[in-house]
Amino acid sequence: MNTCKLIDGKAAAARVLKQVQADVLRLKADGIEPALAVILLGEDPASQVYVRNKILRAEEAGIRSLEYRLGADTSQGRLLELISTLNNDRAVNGILLQLPLPAHIEETRALQAIAPGKDVDGFHSENVGGLSQGRNVLTPCTPSGCMQLLEDACGDLSGKHAVVIGRSNIVGKPMAALLLKAHCSVTVVHSRSVDAKALCRLADIVIAAVGRPRMIDASWLKPGAVVIDVGINRIQEHGRSRLVGDVDLDSALPQVSAITPVPGGVGPMTIAFLMKNTVTAAVQQAHAQRSPSEATCLSIS
Ligand code: GUN
Repeated sequence: MNTCKLIDGKAAAARVLKQVQADVLRLKADGIEPALAVILLGEDPASQVYVRNKILRAEEAGIRSLEYRLGADTSQGRLLELISTLNNDRAVNGILLQLPLPAHIEETRALQAIAPGKDVDGFHSENVGGLSQGRNVLTPCTPSGCMQLLEDACGDLSGKHAVVIGRSNIVGKPMAALLLKAHCSVTVVHSRSVDAKALCRLADIVIAAVGRPRMIDASWLKPGAVVIDVGINRIQEHGRSRLVGDVDLDSALPQVSAITPVPGGVGPMTIAFLMKNTVTAAVQQAHAQRSPSEATCLSIS
């Protein structure tokens, strides 16, 4: 395997986290202790792993974490009450509501209840709208992580043709908005696209976010394309459980100039950008609370 084409997401995430750690130290010296509240309803095994990792990374970065593990039968009213309490708590800077939610909770209602300034997932419509207008708002973590990997791999993205496969609110749509903000020409392909493969073969950059194991092989890719694989699919193979992406890595590797592996590609970047967003939220809240002269010295990288 030509491993030099593999983009090392773990190393990239470690660089982001190191910077976050340094920012947290400087903020603490200034009397600001960034804090992240994580809410998990129910016992979905994958969500439990994600939440545990988020709490661990927060601790490593020096960010205070508050964990709210609630039963799957928690009422929507109780959840909205908790979010309201956290919105009003000045010691809490970021609120993350782990998805998916139990079926009886209206996802949009719950996400819209989070104060936009504490919405470290960037899912509130105010942040979604701000991103689509190209404003500097809290931005969804996975697409932000993908952008960092792309900028590390390609440098300036201006003028490149990017194809995003998938149109979810969490990845596909914000990804397209970020690529547009970086001056790419963007095509979004999805389940109703006519000849998605032909469209994808035109791409300099491919972002695969469909959730279908190894759906994209070399026949989808232009020679020299840069591929970011957002898929995390658990499959059984040769009697073993393993994680694979939406891209067939063995098939794609000879065709591409760079590609993220699964695991070890995009995954670590999502958590690193959650920490970065928490610090950004803490700084913005401190700016809003302090007088202009006090706030001038607050900045992060
Ligand atoms: N579930 C899967 N991905 C995410 C994410 O990025 N944020 C939240 N809150 N839940 C998720």
